[in-house]
Amino acid sequence: MGHAPSRISLNLLAKLTTSLSLLVASWLGLDFVPPSHYTWAESMTSQPTGTLKGNIMRGREIFNGKGVCYYCHGIDGYIGRRPRSEADTAALISKLNPPPPDLRNPETLRLKTNKERTRAIREGHPGTGMFPDTTMTDQDLADTLLYLALIRKDPHPEQ
Ligand code: HEC
Repeated sequence: MGHAPSRISLNLLAKLTTSLSLLVASWLGLDFVPPSHYTWAESMTSQPTGTLKGNIMRGREIFNGKGVCYYCHGIDGYIGRRPRSEADTAALISKLNPPPPDLRNPETLRLKTNKERTRAIREGHPGTGMFPDTTMTDQDLADTLLYLALIRKDPHPEQ
């Protein structure tokens, strides 16, 4: 019996595959949206920001765990601290263009509100490595947003 890959790396690989097919589709000039994304987008009704209270420590666990954010954005958001991953995964991530931004450096971040960040996380940025997350609950997202505000030292975490 071989070593079973962890759920996290399977989740990441699925995401990377989606991401790369989106990139290929955009190179080819096709307007490709995976069918599962449609279904999911239509079924989404609740808005996480403003209604749910976040928990920073849970947000950190999600960031470094099931959200797989740390694979690209670094452990605890330190962009230089990437986890050890399989060579294939690391190679795919290093090819991302634009590269994942430093979530600790507010100077280089483009999104200004949690509403925009929610969209980036939920729906992804088409044509980049940042693709839709379909596994986070609204509470997961509220927790993650609060954690992101902490690491970029945002004086207005609810914004
Ligand atoms: C496969 C790599 C990858 C993963 C995994 C990933 N991201 Fe990203 N992320 C990116 C890239 C690349 C961008 C830049 C997209 C752009 O420039 O349009 C980005 C952009 C962002 C931004 C916008 C930053 C700004 O400019 O304001 C946020 C916030 C963000 N990611 C949070 C997350 C969170 C939270 C997770 C986990 C749920 C996550 N990312 C997972 C690659 C990734």
